[in-house]
Amino acid sequence: MKTIKTTIALLISLSLVSISLVQFAYSQEKTGKEIFEGAKCNACHSVEKAGIEAKKKSDKVPDLSKLAEGHDADFFAKYLKKEETLNSKKHAVAFKGSDEELKTMVDWLMSLTSAE
Ligand code: HEC
Repeated sequence: MKTIKTTIALLISLSLVSISLVQFAYSQEKTGKEIFEGAKCNACHSVEKAGIEAKKKSDKVPDLSKLAEGHDADFFAKYLKKEETLNSKKHAVAFKGSDEELKTMVDWLMSLTSAE
């Protein structure tokens, strides 16, 4: 009887440990803004809505508070991998991070675009 109780107690504490590990892993996940800055997109782009200033100011580089109309997240993800063109041009640089990071970052940009 005692061993069963001990086993149950052990199992419960083990599951608690794994839950907190998962929570820790999630809290380590980068936000779209962090990925954007980490990929040095702000070398060229400002994102006024998120308080991001471009390091190099240029009239040729659009502010990303509002993305071009008529395109979805999937399109921008492809565009940033240079698999799609916008205004019949490919993007200046290809995104080097993972597809998950690309998705998080594009979703973040899209959320700014849809917010008024
Ligand atoms: C070397 C400068 C440069 C860097 C670095 C750069 N971009 Fe761009 N980006 C541009 C230019 C220039 C355009 C406009 C291209 C055009 O209109 O054809 C553009 C366009 C875009 C667009 C389309 C904007 C619209 O009007 O819808 C998005 C989205 C974008 N960039 C995201 C990014 C992201 C994310 C990064 C970082 C991974 C990044 N850019 C890094 C120069 C840059």
